[in-house]
Amino acid sequence: MSLSNKTLINEIDSLLLLEFDLQRLLIKGGVRLVGEINVSGAKNAALPLFFATLLTPGKFEITNIPRLRDIQTTVDLLKQLGAEVDYTDHSVNISTDDLKSHEAPYDLVRTMRASVLALGPLLARCGKARVSLPGGCAIGARPINLHLEGMKKLGVKISLENGYVEAAVDSLKGDTVHFSLPTVTGTENIMMLATKAEGTTIIENAAKEPEIIELQNFLNQMGAKISGAGTSKITIQGGDKLKPTKYKVMPDRIEAGTFMIAAAATGGDLIIKNAVYEHLTALITKLEECGVKIEKIKGDGLRVRAYEPLKPVNISTGPFPDFPTDCQAQMMALLTKAKGTSTIVENIFENRFMHVQELQRMGANIELRGNTALIHGNGGLTGAPVMATDLRASASLIIAGLIANGVTEVNRIYHLDRGYEKIEEKLKNVGANIDRVN
Ligand code: EPU
Repeated sequence: MSLSNKTLINEIDSLLLLEFDLQRLLIKGGVRLVGEINVSGAKNAALPLFFATLLTPGKFEITNIPRLRDIQTTVDLLKQLGAEVDYTDHSVNISTDDLKSHEAPYDLVRTMRASVLALGPLLARCGKARVSLPGGCAIGARPINLHLEGMKKLGVKISLENGYVEAAVDSLKGDTVHFSLPTVTGTENIMMLATKAEGTTIIENAAKEPEIIELQNFLNQMGAKISGAGTSKITIQGGDKLKPTKYKVMPDRIEAGTFMIAAAATGGDLIIKNAVYEHLTALITKLEECGVKIEKIKGDGLRVRAYEPLKPVNISTGPFPDFPTDCQAQMMALLTKAKGTSTIVENIFENRFMHVQELQRMGANIELRGNTALIHGNGGLTGAPVMATDLRASASLIIAGLIANGVTEVNRIYHLDRGYEKIEEKLKNVGANIDRVN
C-alpha cells in the first residue's frame, strides 16, 4: 500500500474514533433492575476460533457471534490475510481457501491485542508470520514473551524487527512448553500451532479458562487430537490433517458476570439467560458473601436477587477458576455500596485500577495501596461526568451510574462497544434509565 493510502486510512480511522468519542451514555441512577436479560456469545471465546480457521483451507460456519467492534476488527484482519468472510447478524461464514498474506499489520493490532492470535495459525499453515507487536495497553504492559518462548520450543525462529515479530519455521516439532505463568492467549496460540507439529506437545501450567476448553472442542471438531483443556496440562498430538467445521460459541461469562453485579448493585431481581453457573463460581461465591441470592433456573441461566444492605468482601483476582480480573472493576462499583470496608487485590494486570479515580469523582471512598484497593462503602455515589479508560472500566462506570444519585455521563464509550453488545438496550429492557447520545 502506498504511503498516501495508509495515511488516508489512518485519518479515516481517527475520524471513526472521533465519531465514537462523541457518543456518551447518560444514566439516571436509582432504578432496580428487574426482568430477564440475555447474554450474548463470548467475545474471548469467539476470537480464537476466528483465528483457528486460518489453520486449514475450507469453509467454516461459526454461530452465536456477538456483534462487537473486536469481532469486526478480526473480520477485517482475516480479509486482509485473504480469507472471504461473510459476517451477518450473529453468524459468520469464513472461507480460508486462499491466503494471500501472512502479515497482521500495526493498524489492526494496535486496536485489538488479540490479533496476536494470528501468529500460531499463520505459522502452522504458511510456515511464516509477520505480526505487529501490540505495544502497551491501558491495563498493563501485557508482553507476549511467553507466546514467543513457547513457539521457539516448537522450532520457530523469531526475530523482532521494526516493531514486528518476524517468525518462520521449516518443520514444527512437538515439545514440552512450560509457562512460568498461565497465559490465556499464549495457551491458545501454542494449542493452534501444535496441531501441525510432528509428535506430541505438552503445555504445562496452561491457562484453564472455559475459553480454552472451547478452543479445544473447536480444534478437535476440525480433526485435531487435544486433551486436558480446563486443567493445567494440555496434550496435543500434532500432525493430523485438519478440516473445516461448524460451531456455536458459548455464552459470555464476563457479560453474564457484569449483569449479575448490576443486578446485585441495584437491589434488583434479574434472570440472566444463558449464564453458565460453572463459569461463574468465584463471582457467585463473592456475591453470596455480600448477601446476594443466586440460583440456577430451569433451562440455562441464573436468577440474581439482592437484599440490602450488602456486606463487604475481600477479593483477590487470579487465573480461572479464581476471581476474574475482567469482573474486578464492576465489583468495585458494587462494593462502594456495601456496609463496611472491602478489599480488592488485583494480581493479573499491574495497572487495572484506572476506574478508581473516576469512581472517586462520583464520591466513592477508595484507597489504593499498591495492587490493593480498600473500598470504604458509603453508599453515597453521586452522578458526574466520567471517562471510560478500558472495556471493563466502562462497565464499572455504568454500574456506578445505575446506583448513583442523579445523572452520570460516561464518556469514551467506544471501549464499551469492543466487548458489550447493545448493553444500553439490554439494560433499558430491565428498567435502567440509560441512553446513548451524540
Ligand atoms: N503475560 C506475560 N507474558 C506473556 C503473556 C502474558 O507476562 O507472554 C502476563 C500478562 O501481562 C498478565 C498475565 O500474564 O499479567 C496474564 O495475561 P494473559 O496472557 O492471560 O492475558 P491475555 O491472554 O492477553 C486474556 C483476555 C483478557 C483477560 C485476560 C486474563 C482475550 C482475548 N483476552 O488476555 O480479556 O483479561 O486473558 O483473564 O482472551 C477483556 O476481555 O477485557 C480482557 C482484557
